[in-house]
Amino acid sequence: MSVAARSPAVRSVSLWRPRTARMGVPRVRMAVQSNLVSIAPMLTKLQRDCATPLPVLRHVADAMADDMRAGLAVDGGSDLKMILSYVDSLPTVNEKGLFYALDLGGTNFRVLRVQLGGKDERVIATEFDQVSIPQDLMFRTTEDLFDFIASGLAKFAQKEGGKFHLAQGRMREIGFTFSFPVKQTSIDAGILIKWTKGFAVSGTAGKDVVACLNEAMERQGLNMCVSALVNDTVGTLAGARYWDDDVMVAVILGTGTNACYVERVDAIPKLQGLKSTSGRTIVNTEWGAFSNGLPLTEYDREMDVESINPGEQIFEKTISGMYLGEIVRRVLVKMAEAGALFGERVPEKLSTPFVLGTPHISAMQQDNSKDLQAVGSILYDVAGVAAGAPTNVPLPCTSSLCRINYFPNLGCLGTKSGTGRSSFRKSSVTQCQVNSDLSARRIVVEVCDTLAKRGGRLAGAGIVGILQKMEEDSKGTISGKRTVVAMDGGLYEHYPQYRRYLQDAVTELLGSELSKNVVIEHSKDGSGIGAALLAATNSKYKH
Ligand code: BGC
Repeated sequence: MSVAARSPAVRSVSLWRPRTARMGVPRVRMAVQSNLVSIAPMLTKLQRDCATPLPVLRHVADAMADDMRAGLAVDGGSDLKMILSYVDSLPTVNEKGLFYALDLGGTNFRVLRVQLGGKDERVIATEFDQVSIPQDLMFRTTEDLFDFIASGLAKFAQKEGGKFHLAQGRMREIGFTFSFPVKQTSIDAGILIKWTKGFAVSGTAGKDVVACLNEAMERQGLNMCVSALVNDTVGTLAGARYWDDDVMVAVILGTGTNACYVERVDAIPKLQGLKSTSGRTIVNTEWGAFSNGLPLTEYDREMDVESINPGEQIFEKTISGMYLGEIVRRVLVKMAEAGALFGERVPEKLSTPFVLGTPHISAMQQDNSKDLQAVGSILYDVAGVAAGAPTNVPLPCTSSLCRINYFPNLGCLGTKSGTGRSSFRKSSVTQCQVNSDLSARRIVVEVCDTLAKRGGRLAGAGIVGILQKMEEDSKGTISGKRTVVAMDGGLYEHYPQYRRYLQDAVTELLGSELSKNVVIEHSKDGSGIGAALLAATNSKYKH
């Protein structure tokens, strides 16, 4: 695919760069309190290290395409595993009957049933249940984890009724979405290569996860069978394709990240003669393991070294929801240590790994209040920031000229002056340190933005890498055609700035003409229905 060259959108990265316009509020250039001055160079360095100008994006897209080819040539050929899904035929809309889906991929597992009515009725009814996985189960044994899942499934299956009907003489069939790297050995079997996303369950790696589930179902006396084992990306692609024939790629941006796409069988040398009736198959890239040429910082490196899987899942650690908040936290701790960002001490709670989540950083970026009140509350609730900054919690300023909102736990928050310029009286500034907290909050938002921007833009480059590979190896697959990339995952769904950065990067890389045909579409919870549809397509009762 020819990727149109455009000059990178270089934006000045000044500490006080205006952010999203706030309605009706004149922009105020706040004075930097002396103890924050030393933070400005740290922020500038962070922004420089995280920068993703067009040449960096292009390198990432090219390297992604190259790694895909190398991974398709031979197992272990690159960071990308390029796992064969054994999904050769996608749902046709003719599927009928009752099917279940079981989805294990992060902090929750979901169970779902769907009654399919074929071409005319499509999805007659769905019901689902979501159970959060107790934290300790992520570190216990395979039996513990699978028993927990099977018992959740059993409870859910007991409640079946109403519009759901199982055809006589059939077992309930399950599409099992297992969102970790699995070496599939057939459509209904696969061996866990390794856990990701913080899971460290003992004894599962190297085992067939369907066998683990079957044994646990047996222990529960549950008579159900797995007809399709799929990755969440594959489930999403199947679910989205059921409604739209142009879906060619699916991407998950949630706790973890990954992408799959429709590949020509003859473009997969490692397939070694295995046939597919359609000539196409879905390949699960496992792009979370990609690492080539990423703009990484000292914070990323330290987080990686301290993680339970050092050196692995580098792309995932740079762009996905599990890690963005943690990187921000690490930056803030360094800033607090070096430049007294929140006062004299580093707030104790902020030193706890993963205390700041990606939902928090997204919420902070949505704060449009003039004094960043929501940012203040989040920092207080989550990280106990105010408690750690006693020198910044002065008495309320009583001066009538000093228009200050006083928050007991946050100190004085400077607001606009009557002239639209920062005109806090000198004495108020000294007495109340009015700018310090607002300045600190602005810096916090800048840090969130810097990492969301890097993540979103790199994700966009990854998507272009996949499209580029598809087009380069099979001219006309993408070019000149509407091509849909189905997206799912909480990060994509709930972080509008991230989404925008992703789209911007895709447009920058493809150019405005080509990118018109590339539709990036949210396919909410498509992987559940998709897995059930794939259970139907691969039903044991098909023939
Ligand atoms: C896993 C993938 C999964 C992705 C999104 C990654 O950590 O390795 O298999 O698709 O998370 O859930």
